Amino acid sequence: MERKIILSGARPTGEIHLGNYFGALENWVRLQNDYDCYFFIADWHALTTGYDETADLPENLIQLIADYLACGLDPDKSVLFLQSQILEQAELHLLLSMITPLSWLERCPTYKDQISQMKNKDITTYGFLGYPCLMASDILTYRADFVPVGEDQLPHLELSREIARRFNHLYGQVFPEPQPLLTTAKVLPGTDGRKMSKSYHNTITFADEPETVRKKVMSMVTDPARIRKDDKGHPEVCSVYAFHKVFNAEEWDEIGASCRAGTIGCVACKKKLQEKLLAFHRPIHEKRKQLLENRDDLRRVIRAGSDKARQKAAETMIDVRRAMHLGL
Ligand code: TRP
Ligand code: SF4
Repeated sequence: MERKIILSGARPTGEIHLGNYFGALENWVRLQNDYDCYFFIADWHALTTGYDETADLPENLIQLIADYLACGLDPDKSVLFLQSQILEQAELHLLLSMITPLSWLERCPTYKDQISQMKNKDITTYGFLGYPCLMASDILTYRADFVPVGEDQLPHLELSREIARRFNHLYGQVFPEPQPLLTTAKVLPGTDGRKMSKSYHNTITFADEPETVRKKVMSMVTDPARIRKDDKGHPEVCSVYAFHKVFNAEEWDEIGASCRAGTIGCVACKKKLQEKLLAFHRPIHEKRKQLLENRDDLRRVIRAGSDKARQKAAETMIDVRRAMHLGL
């Protein structure tokens, strides 16, 4: 039986953190076994907001590939590729831009939000407005059936579906309508209790040395009501407790009860977490380090993946051009 196609991607913004891992990557690694998976690095997408800072792209790219492979994405199971290496996607983007009404793009909820948020930069460009159209071309080029995305990306995916429908209506059935694949990801807050995000400086990454991970755990924000060791705590407001749920599920209940009763101190609680977290972190960290010693190999992996992606893209584009009566 033909396997369904999955596609997802991420921008090369540097090394990934544990929030990225549990929010997406862990799920991608699992999906590889049951679907034909395409995972890509969205360097063109990075340009929609970062067109003036491209110098970091090559290094960010290498770091991201090392993270992907170290976390278990497997080039023998999935097609791992770089968006800018598939020119067919640019062609599809052009063609889709002809049929995408401006009003669809302008009413996209993230459009006005981001423009008002990015005060220090002018992103009122053609490319940024067309971002959902670029995303549609990513998905439709590979005729993906499912797209694993977070809730924040749902409006964009809905636009991709509308664009696919409009294309099929105008020129005949070429594209499946991509469905979202929402999974209940594990929630891991940042070390300060807010959402884990690079811009909040509250992340733990696989690039961090074990000593750094230990220090970050010791500095994590806990229940402010616990000043003395025997104060009764409220573990549900504590980020250490949220981490225990992910990395130390077997002791999670017990830790919650001891915290509430005031029989475990925060330092002891953090020490336990250090060990459990490092048991998970260390092998990935080491693997990543080892992969980064051979950067040419990493580039080779992405080049080979991009060659595979291009074949699939070329097949789709033959159908697209024929449907649109382009060519001789
Ligand atoms: N929009 C996503 C992000 O900014 C990345 C992305 C681009 C994507 N194209 C996609 C995700 C297609 C899923 C499918 O992180
Ligand atoms: Fe958090 Fe543990 Fe301290 Fe309770 S004992 S507040 S769970 S660090």
